[in-house]
Order: sequence, then C-alpha cells, then structure tokens
Amino acid sequence: MTQAHTPDQVWWRQASFYQIYPRSFMDSNDDGEGDLAGIIAKADYLAALGIDAVWLSPFYPSPLADGGYDVANPREVDPRFGNLDDFDALISTLHSRDIKVVVDVVPNHVSVEHEWFKQAVASPTGHPSRERFHIRDGRGVDGSLPPNNWVSVFGGSAWSRLADGQWFLHLFDSSQPDLNWTHPDVVADGLETLTFWLDRGVDGFRVDVAFGLMKDMTYADHHDPQALIDAMRLDLFDPERDPSLPNPREVLRGGPFFDRDEVHEIYRGWRRLLDTYSPERMSVAEAWAYPASRAMDYARADELHQVFNFDFMVTPYRADAVIKNAQEVLDNVSLVGAPATWVLSNHDSARVVTRLGGGARGAARARVLAMIAHALPGGVYIFQGEELGLEDAEIPDADRQDPIWFRTQGQDPGRDGARVPLPWEAAGEHYGFSKAAKLWLPQPGDWHEVCVDVQENRDGSFLSLYRSMLTLRSEVNRECSEKDFAWLTEVGAVDSEIVAFTRGDALTVIANLGRQSVSVKDLLWGKQVFLMTGTFDGEHLASDSCIWLR
Ligand code: NOJ
Repeated sequence: MTQAHTPDQVWWRQASFYQIYPRSFMDSNDDGEGDLAGIIAKADYLAALGIDAVWLSPFYPSPLADGGYDVANPREVDPRFGNLDDFDALISTLHSRDIKVVVDVVPNHVSVEHEWFKQAVASPTGHPSRERFHIRDGRGVDGSLPPNNWVSVFGGSAWSRLADGQWFLHLFDSSQPDLNWTHPDVVADGLETLTFWLDRGVDGFRVDVAFGLMKDMTYADHHDPQALIDAMRLDLFDPERDPSLPNPREVLRGGPFFDRDEVHEIYRGWRRLLDTYSPERMSVAEAWAYPASRAMDYARADELHQVFNFDFMVTPYRADAVIKNAQEVLDNVSLVGAPATWVLSNHDSARVVTRLGGGARGAARARVLAMIAHALPGGVYIFQGEELGLEDAEIPDADRQDPIWFRTQGQDPGRDGARVPLPWEAAGEHYGFSKAAKLWLPQPGDWHEVCVDVQENRDGSFLSLYRSMLTLRSEVNRECSEKDFAWLTEVGAVDSEIVAFTRGDALTVIANLGRQSVSVKDLLWGKQVFLMTGTFDGEHLASDSCIWLR
C-alpha cells in the first residue's frame, strides 16, 4: 500500500489539452480551410475523446504568412475562420460539454497588417508610433546595412528595410515585426488582449515565444548570431550528448533576445490579471531556455502556470532515456511547484509516429510513448491527429506554405507535413474535411484507414486507445495527486528496456521499449490489466507493448 495524497483541486494541473490547428480541423463552409463552426460541428467528437481542454492555435485576422502567428488584430476573429459570435458559440458549446478553452496569444510580434505597424510605416522617421517596434537606422555610409548581425529563426537577417531606409526587427518572418515590450503601449495592449478573451470566457492562454519578448536595447552585434537560432534545433536537445563537451545551447545564456531576465516582469503583470478571475484561469509558456531548469522560471508561482517541457519530443525511444528525461522534467518542475507537461508532438514538430520511424513500428512505439506520457503526473498536450496516429504527409514543393521553406530557399522543408487537414470520413470528399475543390494543404491519397469513422468502429485502433487512455487517466487523476508517483523499474529482475512506475494505488504502468519479449512477473503484484497496447500473455510483455494495471 502506498500513501495516497489528496487529489489536486485545480482543473489545469493534470488536465489533458488537445491542440486544434483551426485551419486544418474541420471546414464548415467548404472554402478549403477549417473554421470555428467546423470545431463546433465536431464538439461531440471532442467530448467523446475525453479531453479536458482544447488549445486553439491562432484564429485572429491574419495574412496567414506564418499560419496565423502573424496577427493583424489580436481581438478579432479572421473572417476565414468566422466571427466573434462563432467564437462565443464555440465557448458555450465546449463549456456545455465540460471542455475548457485555451487560446494562443502571440505577444512577441504582430503582422505587417497590424494597425500599429501600418501607422509606423506611414509615419516619418522619428515618429513616436515607430517606438512600438524595433525600428532603427541601418549601418554603413548610406544606412544600407542592417543595424546589427542578428538573424531570423526562419533564416536570413532579422532586419528588413522600410521604404524610407530605416530597418525593422523581425525574429521570425519579415511579415512579423517584433514589438518593443519596453513601450508602455505594448504592455497595456497585451493586458487588454488578455482581458478581452478572459471576459469572453476563455479558460487560459498558450503564450507564443514567451521567452523572446525582451531585447538587448543597445542592439549590439552578437559574436555568433546563428548559434542563437541553432540552439533551438530539436536535435541539439539530444539527451545523449556527452555532458563533458560544451553544450551549443550555452549560447542562450545572457543572449540579446531570448530568455532575458527582464521578460519575467511582464508575466508577473499577466498573472496579477489572471488571478482576478474565478474560476481559475491558466497559462502555459513556450520557452526554450538553457539549461532546462531556467525555463521553469516562467512557471514560478507569480508568473505563468506551466511551461512546455518539450523533452518527450526529443527523447530516444529507449527505456533509460525515457526514465532519465522524465525524471529530469519532474525534478525541474519541482523547483517551482509547477506541474509537468508532456508533449509528444505539436504543429512545429514532426508527428510522433514519423519521428519514431513511421509505419507499423513507428505507430506501435508512438502508442507506447503515449501510454507513458498520459500516465505520468502533470498535464498532457495532444496535437490534433495524434489520436489518429497520423504520419507527416509528403507535400509537393508547389503546395508548401511554411515561411521556413521560403526563407531557407527550400533547404528546410518546414512544418507543413504535420499540418495537413484531418481525415474524418473514409468515403467523404477530402476525407470529409471539406467539399472545396482544393484544400489549403493537400492530403495524402492513402489516409482511408486512418479516418475517424473507420477508427471509431475498430477495437484497438489508435483512436480507441486515445479515448480509453484519456478517460482512464482522468479517473486516475481524480484519485491521486501529482505526488503519487514512483518508479518501479529498479524493482525485480527485469530487462533494462522496461519503463515501469506507479501512480499511488490508482495505476501501475509497465512498458517494454526493447526488441525482446520480457517477463514482468515481478512487477505485477496481482494487479489486473485495464488498458494495453501490443501483446501481454499475463507474464510476458512483448516488444513495443505497454500495460496499465490496477
Ligand atoms: C511558435 C509557434 O508555435 C510557431 O508556429 C510560430 O511560427 C512561431 N512561434 C512564431 O510565432
């Protein structure tokens, strides 16, 4: 018998969040792009999935140069996605099904179509409206060189020139000018945006580029600007790196635009606002910091509520690596008392089945990792389509949309492969997503078997597994707190490819990430299997299999 702790009272600490990329979820008006009414139409699907909350990627007016992360007006709905009435209807529809709604906020930058930027561009050099951005004179005799050597996350210089010869900073695409967060208008406007959506009933915010808002206002050159950008490459998060070698991510410390100490004051202001609302609202930061423990500062008690722990998106599929990574996350979150967040994929990453090798093996492995992630203490984030076991789609070059593809002159294909519209019905046009002649991104021709309608009627499908897992995980988390957790792996003579842990008396998890079947007899303790993927004969757990017991 283990000591049971009191279950966590707040809704968000151990919630499951389902990320909706609105453009690719469901198209209600057959224009080839998803919309808010499409999400409402699929509310029963979301309820049946058993999630606690949805996180909506941006649906704000936008030229969609960066999939909506280029916001022209943060307090409106893009007509392509609907209008504010649709948004209100979406909130009430989802709330009536006990699903919370979290929306993306994009504070680091706006679109070139934003009123402020248009005003700054139309105003003469030196006009106060330009101070809301980072607009500077260039270097060289005629100012034709950028103000410094900073580079964009998406490739190329981080500066683009205005018609009058000055330059503006954009850490991402040239259509996404960075805001100057030392300007009081910018701070006030950020709070106004939060208030606007809070008053419409949203339950929380996902904060885009939360670690990037403050810049070195001396605009000094950096000794290795490309290294600052490369430091966010997922392969550099390789947990297998030799710790005695210099870590290329070290460069982030004290850098000119990421993870600067001043940024935290912004979130203290945001938290004061969020705390005035009841029931409790939450926020989650996208913050790539080094070391990972530093990312936790964004989730201190007086700042945001969670930070994404992206570790599972890079962990090699090996038991020791998974255990080490998960323990590091748990150690890090305990520094600030925040819950862990487990992420297998999102709209910026490869889909998890693809990352794990694709095909039947990739799928089997993704199911095992999902059963581990959904059982660990804390919150879990699911990217739409992950529950269907989708793989990245091949996108013809002519159809690509991601600015990364364009800014790297085709060297980096970008993220479109993970963003393809969802397949709902095997027999429907565009798999039931839309009746438009052409979709904004094409779907593969071989998705019939992964469609929702096929999977929901098939025992053992990916979708069935996710539904069971999400419902059962809620039951487990109602019984126990995040503190109810212990590794079992060192108990008994088991193979090192086993990951095993308990959540109090509510759940035991045993997963075999190895190539051989393994006897897990010593870990069973008479408990009964209530969920599994792969093969288990009562004693031996096959390769790429996982069981939940109680
Ligand atoms: C992170 C978002 O997730 C990504 O999609 C976007 O391109 C950048 N931030 C810039 O907003």
